This record gives sequence, C-alpha cells and structure tokens, in this order.
Amino acid sequence: MAFPRNRMRRLRRTENLRRMVCQTRLEVGDLIAPLFVVSGTGVRNEIGSMPGVAQMSVDLTVEQCRQLEQLGIPAVILFGIPDHKDAVGSDTWNDDGIIQRATRAIKGACRDLMVITDVCFCEYTDHGHCGVIATRRDGTRELDNDATLANLARQVVSHARAGADMVAPSGMIDGMVQAIRRALDEADFADLPIMSYAAKYASGYYGPFRDAADSAPEFGDRRGYQMDPANADEAIREAALDIAEGADIIMVKPAVNYLDVLWRLKQEFDLPTAAYHVSGEFSMIKAAARNGWLDEKRCALETTTAIKRAGADLILTYFAEDIARWMS
Ligand code: PBG
Ligand code: ZN
Repeated sequence: MAFPRNRMRRLRRTENLRRMVCQTRLEVGDLIAPLFVVSGTGVRNEIGSMPGVAQMSVDLTVEQCRQLEQLGIPAVILFGIPDHKDAVGSDTWNDDGIIQRATRAIKGACRDLMVITDVCFCEYTDHGHCGVIATRRDGTRELDNDATLANLARQVVSHARAGADMVAPSGMIDGMVQAIRRALDEADFADLPIMSYAAKYASGYYGPFRDAADSAPEFGDRRGYQMDPANADEAIREAALDIAEGADIIMVKPAVNYLDVLWRLKQEFDLPTAAYHVSGEFSMIKAAARNGWLDEKRCALETTTAIKRAGADLILTYFAEDIARWMS
C-alpha cells in the first residue's frame, strides 16, 4: 500500500473543496452591534481607544441603525450615556431617559431591527458601580445586591414600555434574572426575552468600553460581583441559576480568553448562547492593524469564526458592521 494512505491535504487543495468541508460559517444573522447613545442632535464623539466607534446622539444612532438593518444585521444592543448621573442611576427608569428615547426612535424607523437594551447601572451612577451602594458599619462601601434588584425591575419595565425587543442584564447581580422576569411578567411583557450576561468576568479588557460609556468605578473595582478569570466551574453554576430563573439566552464575556467556558456552557445546557467580543479585544486588533502588524479583516474574521466554533450562536462585536460589509 502506498504511503501515506490518508492525505489530509486532499480536501484543502481548492477553494471549492475548502468550502465543501467548511464546518463553521459565520453569518450576518449571528451578529449583534453595540451602540453608545448620548443626548443632543448631530453629536458624534469618536472614542479614542476604539477606532471607528463613537458615542452618537439619537438621530445619528437611528441613521446608523438604518444602515445596519440594510446590511442584514438582526439586532443592536444599546448603552446609554445619560445627562445626569446620581447615586442610584435613576435615568435608567426614566421613561424619557436616553435609552428610552433611543429605543422609541429606532423602533419607529427600523421595523426589521431588534433593539436589545443593556440593563445595568454603571453608566448612570455617579460612583460608576453596577447598582446601589451600601455603607457597612466599618465605613467601607459595597454593592447592595438586593436593593439593586428592585431598581432593575423598574429599569426593565421602562425599557419594555419604550419598545425594547429584548433585555440584557449585565450587572452580575444575584437574582437579577428572577427579579426581571417577574417584573416583566407582571407588567404584561411575558413574551419579552432575557439575554443574561451569565458568566461575566472581572476583565481588564473592558478598558476602552469604560471610556466609551464613561462607566469606570470611582472607587474599588468590580471583583466583588464579576467572576474571577481563574474560575470555570463557577460559570456553570452561574448559568444554571440564570436559566432556572428564566434566562432565554446566556452570555459569556469576554469571548476570546473564555472560549473554554463558552464551549462548556454550550455543551452543558444547549441553550442559545452568546459571546461578547469586548472593547479591549476589538481595540487590540485595531491597534495592531493600524501599526501594520496584523491584517484587520483577516484577524477579525478569524476571531469571530473561532468564537462561533467554540459554541456561540450569537456574537456581540464592534466589528459587526465591518463583517457584514466584508461578507456582502
Ligand atoms: C457594564 C458593562 C460593561 C461592558 C458591557 N456592560 C463593562 C464593565 O463591566 O465594566 C463591557 C463591554 C466591552 O468592554 O465592550 N455592566
Ligand atoms: Zn454595570
């Protein structure tokens, strides 16, 4: 018998063969585009650490959404930069708050685009934490989990009334999915799905986002509520709890350093699973490409395809629009 009998290269030799045996196909329908909304009209504040990404006022956000819709992107996720921050983040449940205004405007203009609202408080609180802060007897401050739940309930109902198609709680507050599910059901939004940031790690890769959303914590950090990057088993427990509380979609965040976690959650639960390719992951590719060290298109597509291969049904990425253009 001739050696070698099996030649793996046989199926790699032409474009058509490669297409025929291709196992993972990234599609525009997998992508969710994050957008940052500010007050005003005609406002476009470029974010220095995220080339091509900007905070935009509602009018320009709507224009952007029209283009995303035309490109076939199914959904956007909105982050708001409010005019006024306070201790509890009350703009989040203001029916005339930044997210509510943006949601109404987008839904009025783009019939075929889903509006997902990120549900948290860090962009809206003057201290930059993801909820209400309690002062302990010894004077130290920490996030008050249970007091935050009631405010989450107010926030999601206001988002739903503004027309949100899905809510995505990102604060890693224990019990958040249950509190949100209850509040939505009671307000007659039983059909509104919840995409929970189930396994969100305390990551250095959120750096550029905190510039974009103006949400850096004023004291301390988020390690008291977000997960330790060293832990994987805990992500299974986090997701199991969220699913039991009523999550329809679970998310892993960031994506690339946590592909093992993504894989395990997909295998374990077989639920629609999302991965957030976060700001720092985006900016790394952008920065290297700008230096001529990496090919931007090639690396962005390789990375997002790898995220899908590891188990993501949905990918939140700042490359969404670029990818849609490259693929069309
Ligand atoms: C806030 C939130 C963060 C991101 C999404 N929602 C930042 C954080 O926890 O500090 C990060 C997204 C990104 O880096 O692209 N709850
Ligand atoms: Zn937050």
